Amino acid sequence: MMDANLTSEDRALLQAARAAARGAYCPYSGFPVGAAVQTELGIITGCNVENASYGLACCAERVALFAAVAQGARRLSTLAVACIEAAADAQPGSRMPCGACRQVIAEMMRPEDRVLVDGVGVWRVGDLLPLAFELGHRPFLDSPVETGRETLT
Ligand code: THU
Repeated sequence: MMDANLTSEDRALLQAARAAARGAYCPYSGFPVGAAVQTELGIITGCNVENASYGLACCAERVALFAAVAQGARRLSTLAVACIEAAADAQPGSRMPCGACRQVIAEMMRPEDRVLVDGVGVWRVGDLLPLAFELGHRPFLDSPVETGRETLT
């Protein structure tokens, strides 16, 4: 965990993650999660979305990261995550990004980028999943920022 000196941008991103959690569709777990990613196009948010076929649930982090990519963002610089109904005395692990999301974070964000976990602390992407799987390189991190939205219009 890093020293959690939050900037005003960090606090705004955490606030956006908390607000996004209110959109969660989580009738099975009752555990709403929100995520917000800072990009060159602004803040893009996501929430967890569940399904009666339980394994199809998608976490808030992946919804936010994929939405950012779909909107044309190519520089995803900071991610905030908020588990707004985790018990106050719950283990820190109950608020952390799951392993699947860490793999996606590793593809889309740089190792030195930060993940802000509401109520827990701040991590470097590279510390959340050391030796993340890759097929020899990270194409997303190599894509020039200007190939973002412009390729979609
Ligand atoms: N969940 C997230 O949205 N992010 C995480 O990192 C962990 C878990 C969601 C998935 C599911 O809808 C609910 O929380 C309970 O696991």
